[in-house]
This record gives sequence, C-alpha cells and structure tokens, in this order.
Amino acid sequence: MIFIDACFKRSTPTAPVWLMRQAGRYLEEYRATRAKAKDFIDFCRRPELAAEATLQPIDILNVDAAILFSDILVVPLEMGMQLEFVEKHGPILHNPIRTQSDLDRLSDHSVDRLGYVYDAVKLVRAKLDQKKALIGFAGSPWTLATYMIEGGGSKNYAIIKKMVYSQSELLHKLLDRLSRAVGGYLLRQIEAGANAVQIFDSWGGALEKSAFFEFSWRYMLQIADRIKAEYPKIPIILFSKGAGCYLENVSGNFDVFGVDWNTPIERAKDILFDRYALQGNMEPARVYSKNAIEEGALEIARVMGKENGYIFNLGHGMQPDFSRQNAKYLVDLIHETFAR
Ligand code: CP3
Repeated sequence: MIFIDACFKRSTPTAPVWLMRQAGRYLEEYRATRAKAKDFIDFCRRPELAAEATLQPIDILNVDAAILFSDILVVPLEMGMQLEFVEKHGPILHNPIRTQSDLDRLSDHSVDRLGYVYDAVKLVRAKLDQKKALIGFAGSPWTLATYMIEGGGSKNYAIIKKMVYSQSELLHKLLDRLSRAVGGYLLRQIEAGANAVQIFDSWGGALEKSAFFEFSWRYMLQIADRIKAEYPKIPIILFSKGAGCYLENVSGNFDVFGVDWNTPIERAKDILFDRYALQGNMEPARVYSKNAIEEGALEIARVMGKENGYIFNLGHGMQPDFSRQNAKYLVDLIHETFAR
C-alpha cells in the first residue's frame, strides 16, 4: 500500500493522494446513497450504506486511500447525547454539557455501542482493493468537546473558552473521558481492519498556544500513545486545523502530521519533516478551478516533489459544491507530477 509506505517514509513510486471529506454531497452517487437512509444519523448507523459511500471516491477519483464514511459526532451520540443534523445549518447537540451533573449523564459505553462502525470497516476492507488503505478516524477530544459544550458548531467558542479559563478542572474531566472513548473507538476500528487512523482536531486553532497544548494536543498524544502501545505498525495521523503557528512545540509518538492550508508547507517541512511524514495542504477552494489546481499542485511539488514520506491532501475538507471533474483532474495530476 503506497499510502502506508508513505506514512512510514518508505519509498513510493509517486505521492499517495486522498482528500479530506472525499465522500460527500459533491458526488451524485453519495446523494443517491444518502437518499436511501431516513436521515444522516440513520445513514451513519447502516453499515452497508456507509460502506457504499466509503468506496465511491475510490472508484470515481482513484485515490490511494479510502476514509471510512461516518462522522466524528457518533461518539457523543453514543455517549447518550441527543444529536440532530439540520439541513443547511449543521449539527445540533441538545442539552449541552455545562456542569458536573451534565457530565455524569454521559455513558462510558460508547465504544461498545459503535458496532455499526466496526461492521462498516469490515465490509469496506472486504471489498477494497488490497493496494488501497482504509483510514479509520475520530474527532479529537477538544473538537468533540466544542460541539458537546457549545451545543453545535460555534463561531467564537465563548462557552468552552470560558470553561478553559474558569472551570478547567471540569473541562479536563470531560476531555479525559473523551480521550478514553476515542482511544477505545480507534482501537476497535483497527481490530475491524482499518489500516491507519486519523484524528481530526478541526477546532484546535481556536486556542492560544499554551491552551492548545494543554487542552487539545495533550489528549491527542494520549490516544496516540495508547494505540502505538498495541499497534505500532498502524500509522497515526494527527490533523489540527489552525496549529500552524505552534509547530516548534509539536512532538510525540505519532507518524504523520496533517498540515492545514494556512501553514506554508515549506515551514512544516523545515520544522517537522525530519521526525514525521507530512500530509496536506492545498487550499481546498483551488478545486474550483483547474488553473488554480495546477498552480497549487506545482507549488507543493516544488517543496515536497522529491520526498518520500509525503502524502498529498487538501489543507481541509472538500465542499458540497466542488466539481467531481476537477477533483479527478487533481488526483491524476498529482500521481503524474509526483511520479519518481
Ligand atoms: O472524509 C470523508 O469523506 C469521511 C466522512 C466524514 C464526514 N464527516 C461525513 C459527513 C468525516 C471524516 C467527517 C468528519 C467531521 N465531521 C469533522 C472533522 C473534519 C473537518 O472537516 O474538520 C467535523 C467537524 C464534523 C462535524 C460535522 N458533520 C459537521 C459540521 C457537519 C455539517 C456540515 C455540512 O457540511 O453540512 C457534518 C455532516 C457531514 N459529515 C456530512 C458528511 C458527508 C454532510 C451531511 C449530509 O450528507 O447532509
């Protein structure tokens, strides 16, 4: 699997490519699969449908890795929170976590209740080309906590940040519980057949430097340590959106650092590439234009083109109105441009 080889900096014939949020509404096939489910949560809970959505970008784009179709919010859902996805608005978590008694009502059995995810992993791994990797994933404790405390998406993270500076003990209790749940969840995905795992810390960048390491990065490393102790040969990818200013302090036992689109890849290379493989980081909006794709890909190739241990990706996720033709064009262009 060239994706796994690149994670461990072994030589590969070209740079492997996959795209964050590669399964999604920009594909008509995805929309057709989603229409078979009652709603988005039902979709996530049906392994045959999740497997179908996972495999679509492999067939359509020829990416080198599949990422399991699911959502980071299935963990709070199975901890007992009431989750709803509202069309054109996003996720809502009812009765958000604000107090110790809110914490007390969360279940510690989410790992066992997520069997439908492990079933989807098994179905995908049985059908997926042996040369392609299957990436399992979870949200970081911090990013999950933002949804659980704010009650949904947030612009300024006012409630959770108030907790950072005035109720840090309570927040650490929640993060610790999430860290255990996420660690167990990723281990079970690996047991079911996932070949690598990525932790999405989409909102780590909401924190100033010291708080980022205390409330977000530390818990990601705790999970990584637990996985490495059991599965040293499963690559771990950590992706923190907005952590580009904090690279000097990045360390720990993981394999691939996911570079977001705000971070100059040259800077990530200078600071991290002697210790970690790198994944990223084309600005997703470039997918709107073939010229912009070419320009972006060439710029990254100038920096990373000759290097083993580099995985092409966007610096954040695909959007619903992106064109599949352009996405396919991008994947083919990368395979050609980075061929050794
Ligand atoms: O990458 C993939 O193709 C795998 C599937 C995947 C989804 N969500 C499917 C999804 C992954 C890896 C995620 C992760 C996720 N979910 C993140 C972290 C990644 C990131 O982008 O930073 C976050 C923050 C979420 C939470 C979430 N889920 C939001 C905010 C939304 C609504 C936003 C929207 O686009 O409507 C979702 C819903 C969701 N998750 C969709 C998909 C394909 C769209 C739902 C639909 O089909 O209606």
